[in-house]
Amino acid sequence: MMATAPDGQAAPVNPDEDILRCEHISKNYGMVTALTDVNLRLARGEVLGLIGDNGAGKSTLLKILCGFQAPTSGRIILEGRQVTLRSVDHARSLGIDAVYQDLALVNQLTVFQNMYLNRELVRWPLPLTRNAIMRKEARSHLDEMGVQVPSVNAPVATLSGGQRQAVAVARSVFSSPKILLLDEPLAAMGVKEGAIILDLITRLKREGNVSIIIIAHNYAHVLEVCDRINMIQGGRITLDKRTSETSAEELTDLVVAEYRKALEERQRSAGSG
Ligand SMILES: Nc1ncnc2c1ncn2[C@@H]1O[C@H](COP(=O)(O)OP(=O)(O)OP(=O)(O)O)[C@@H](O)[C@H]1O
Ligand SMILES: [Mg+2]
Repeated sequence: MMATAPDGQAAPVNPDEDILRCEHISKNYGMVTALTDVNLRLARGEVLGLIGDNGAGKSTLLKILCGFQAPTSGRIILEGRQVTLRSVDHARSLGIDAVYQDLALVNQLTVFQNMYLNRELVRWPLPLTRNAIMRKEARSHLDEMGVQVPSVNAPVATLSGGQRQAVAVARSVFSSPKILLLDEPLAAMGVKEGAIILDLITRLKREGNVSIIIIAHNYAHVLEVCDRINMIQGGRITLDKRTSETSAEELTDLVVAEYRKALEERQRSAGSG
């Protein structure tokens, strides 16, 4: 694989190098500091789990990485080169795609129409032929990924939460991203529904073509599917460990300790005030 350097010369891509790095990323929303000096790395083919309490800054970090928001300061290094992500489309053109919690699927459209939303085939002039091809390709892509839906002609509104989420992930994978960012794809899902997504991620991991950052609240899920875990607390990364080197107990203890600290600080300031 070759990449083009700014001077136009082809430079070899180092397969051992991290596909993505954040260096000293901070983000303020007015007076609110959402992220402080975040350093994060994602290795090629890795599945990185991002965990942390509500309001910790997880989604903010993902929104920065998919080009939706600019950081207040810090750098993003993609495949060894510093990049400024100007928009979601720009990030996508560089191979970074995100699936948001609210999905951006259109309920009234069918599965195959959603798969091609904003990515429609334009080469075939006849709509009928085009639809037939999109249907067939969507079907075979979903089959390939092991995503089961009643029919590609089913309106998305008739699917279960897990099936909808799986279609959203499959749509992202359809455009062959190098990096896939998933914001709580397992939120509010039952065991069976969640299993659809976990299977899909496991499959992508096995194929090894895409590197993944996944935000999740359930430690069991993260420990099952991720290679490495980063915990984010109060806008800072407080833990970076391989999944095999940590446990649900350690992760829970960290959160409890943080909660105690915040409680003590509140009591202290109430006492002094
Ligand atoms: N657009 C915004 N304007 C102002 N403040 C924001 C904005 N988006 C996020 N914040 C604040 O930034 C902090 C981090 O929010 P973020 O959404 O990144 O948290 P999170 O870790 O994803 O939480 P959750 O688990 O609840 O989704 C919070 O204090 C939040 O209120
Ligand atoms: Mg969030």
